[in-house]
Formats: sequence, C-alpha cells, structure tokens
Amino acid sequence: MLSITLVTAAYIGATILFILSLGGLSNPETSRRGNLYGMIGMTIAVLATVLGPQVVTQTGLPWIVGAMAVGGAIGLYAARTVKMTQMPELVALMHSLVGLAAMLVGFANYIDPAASAHYQGAEKTIHEVEIYIGILIGAVTFSGSLIAFGKLSGKIGGKPMLLPARHWINLIGLLVVIWFGGCFINAHSISEGMMPLVVMTVIALLFGIHMVMAIGGADMPVVVSMLNSYSGWAAAATGFMLSNDLLIVTGALVGSSGAILSYIMCRAMNRHFISVIAGGFGTGGGTAPAASGDAQPAGEVTAISAPDTAGLLNDAKNVIIVPGYGMAVAQAQHTVFEITKFLREKGVNVRFGIHPVAGRMPGHMNVLLAEAKVPYDIVMEMDEINEDFPDTDVAIVIGANDIVNPAAQDDPTSPIAGMPVLEVWKAKTAIVMKRSMASGYAGVDNPLFYKDNTRMLFGDAKKMLDEVLAALKG
Ligand code: TAP
Repeated sequence: MLSITLVTAAYIGATILFILSLGGLSNPETSRRGNLYGMIGMTIAVLATVLGPQVVTQTGLPWIVGAMAVGGAIGLYAARTVKMTQMPELVALMHSLVGLAAMLVGFANYIDPAASAHYQGAEKTIHEVEIYIGILIGAVTFSGSLIAFGKLSGKIGGKPMLLPARHWINLIGLLVVIWFGGCFINAHSISEGMMPLVVMTVIALLFGIHMVMAIGGADMPVVVSMLNSYSGWAAAATGFMLSNDLLIVTGALVGSSGAILSYIMCRAMNRHFISVIAGGFGTGGGTAPAASGDAQPAGEVTAISAPDTAGLLNDAKNVIIVPGYGMAVAQAQHTVFEITKFLREKGVNVRFGIHPVAGRMPGHMNVLLAEAKVPYDIVMEMDEINEDFPDTDVAIVIGANDIVNPAAQDDPTSPIAGMPVLEVWKAKTAIVMKRSMASGYAGVDNPLFYKDNTRMLFGDAKKMLDEVLAALKG
C-alpha cells in the first residue's frame, strides 16, 4: 500500500500532466502529445488511488479490479466500434455516466455510517451540503446528457419542447430544491434526510430533461460543451464528498474548460449563454424545405456534374474547401485529401475554411482532416479566411449547410440570424455537395443554393469526390 505522502506526490504529478494535456489539446499539432499526457496522468491517478490508504486492500481490490475490467472492456468495445459521426452522442452518453456516478457516490456517502460518524458539528453540515449539491449537479448532468444523447443521435427530435410557463416551472423547482435542502441539513437521522434528498433528486432529474428538451437543434453545440462543463463540476463535487483533492482539481479543470468552450461556442454562434439556456432556437432539422412560404426563399437551382466540377477546379488558382457534417457522414476526408494533394501539386492554392460549429462536436472537422493527413497550415479558422472568398475562384462546400447559410446575415427573421457564417457565395463559383435539398441541423432553408454563382453537385460526398478525382486525373 502506498503512503499518504506518496499518493499526494502522485496526485500533484497527475494534476500537472492533466494541465499539460489540456494545453496540448488546444492545438492540432500538439494534440497527440496532449492525449498522451492525459493517459499517463490518468494511469498515475488511478494507480495511486487504488493502491493508496483509502482502499481497504483485502476486500476492496477485487471489486475495483472487476469493475475496471468490465468498464475497460465496454470502453474498448465502444471506442473500436463507434463511428466518427457517432462520437458526439457517445460523449453525451459518457457525460451522463459522470452524472450518474456523482449521484450514486452522494447517496452511498450519505448512508455510509462510517462517513457520517466521521463528521461532527459544522463539518457535518458542510459535508451534507457537499452531498446535496453533488447529487443535484449529478442528477441534472445525468438526465440532461441522456436527452442530449437522444437529440444528437436523432432518437429525439431537434425541435425545442417549450412548455407553457416553463421559466416559472424552473423557478418553482429551484425554490422547492432550496426548501428541501434546508430540511435535509436539519434532518436528525439518515432516514429523515432521505426523503428531501430523494425529492430533490427527482426534481433535478426532471429539470435536466426539461432544460435540454427546451433547447432547439441549432443550440446543441452549446449544450454539448455545457454538459461537458457540468460533468466536470459533478466530478469536482464527488471529489469534495470523497475528500479526494485530485478529483476536485480534475473536475474543476474539466468544468472550467467546458465553461470556456461554451463561451467560445456562444460567440461563434453570436448567442448569449442565458438565451441558449432559455431555449427555443432552431427547429427540427434534416427536412426538405417547403416549396414556398414567407421566409423560405425557394427557387431554381443549377446542378453540376463531377467532370464539370473537375474542369472548374483545373482552371482555378485559388480554392477554398468548406467541410461540414456531411463530409463526416460520407467519410470523404481521404478523397478530399487526395484532391487537395493533386491540385496543390499543380500549383493551385487550396485551403480549408473551418467553422467553429461545423459537424456535431467541437473540432469535428479538424479531427477528420488531421486523420486524412491534410497539412495543418492550410486549415484556417473562419475568421482567418472569411475575407478571402472574393479572391477565390472556387469554394467547395462538402456536406455543410447551416455554416454557409447567407440567411444568417441577410434575414433577421431567420432562426439562425446573427450567427457568423463562411461567406462562400462571395467566391466566383460556389459548388455545394449534398445529396438532396434537405436542410441542415438547424432545419432552415439555405438561400445559397439558389444563387446565380452556386452549382449543386448532388450525391453522396465520397462518391462524388471519387468521381471528381477520377476526372481530374483522367
Ligand atoms: P448541417 O447544417 O447539419 O448540414 C449537413 C449537410 O450535409 C446536410 O444538409 C446534408 O444534406 C448533408 N449530408 C449529409 N450526409 C451527406 C453525405 N453522405 N454526402 C453529402 N452530403 C451529406 O452541417 P454543418 O453545416 O456542418 O453545420 C453544423 C450544424 O450542426 C450547425 O447547425 C450546428 O449548430 C449543429 N451542431 C454542431 C455541433 C458542434 S459542437 N459542432 C453540435 C451539435 C449541433 P443532404 O441530406 O441533402 O445530403
């Protein structure tokens, strides 16, 4: 068994590695190293905890090893089988597990006679507050993440569910939770405290469901990062309950980095955090737009073939590729790389424009392009490249929709009004690759398709890009 001093030293080492890991993950070039630091840090943290004085080796170890084997096997299976497009829902599911763990640890801690005998007077009150808040955050994270999983996987529609007087319902829920918090702290026995704890848990679970159900499809990026942040705070709360400093620090790191990410996402979508939480932005998604309607600029589209696309690319000097969720669905990144390589060898200036919320999770496009070995120096962020579209011969939109929707700028009544977008229509020609006229995640029509300089290359992105590549080489 490790001494408490050694465990503390290991925890400090793990904390430093986690901080280095987060630093590394902020840049694609250092992200592999960042992941490695995180893995080493987590191994040290788990070993120090399992071999530390808090675990009663004789009875505890077999349980821990058994649970780790089962959890590890499930994790390995999920990591190997889950497709890249399913990653956001997997992440949401994992956040829900952090919330569930915080809830279960809270209840276990409360009914554990050894834990309750350990604290007296003010310390006991503080410990009970930790339990109450820990279970509260855990329950909201658990049910909210499950709903986010349902929405991201398409099992639940993206349309916001807006109950009448929903803000009043939330406010009443909060007041009831505070009231029962008082009853819980003043309870004289575990059985007396159990009732307020259970009532609060049920309210928190319902609040988590209600909160995420009310958020529209277009705001899901913020919800994903927000639940990431909540899962961090749930872990930190668990750390307080278990008096585990490393868990507190790690949870705070995840919680605060998730909060910063939520802020970045809000800025990328020109939204205020409070209005995201208030809900109702964006509709169902994935549907064909109505043929007519007030804010639905339907019109004629001009289709283009793969050989003609190759012809335009052959004649171009400057090309900007804008990838979106459809590229992930089609797994077209490798062909994209082949086309990029071919054009660059011919002296064409090919660059990528990445929108902060392209795809279904933060950094989704960067991960795919890095996997296909696209050089980092030609992958630009939206702000770096948006001004260059007027000097671009061909802008190719590969399975992207909402992030290139001019209605965000031109139509104040659009559900995505105000969201910054990549201005592909300013290029000489914009080629949009998608399978149909269906809308994107936010469920709004896209006037880009009807512009004079837009050409639609209909079909699966991988199949069409293979044809373009063949035509280029031919
Ligand atoms: P979307 O607006 O969702 O558009 C993707 C387009 O890809 C669809 O219109 C679809 O049209 C097309 N597509 C699908 N499969 C395809 C395939 N196999 N081949 C070719 N095209 C295909 O994607 P986006 O432009 O990347 O925007 C992202 C959206 O997701 C935003 O609304 C964002 O708010 C939301 N969101 C983002 C995140 C994060 S964190 N990035 C998280 C949740 C939600 P067809 O069906 O006609 O092919």
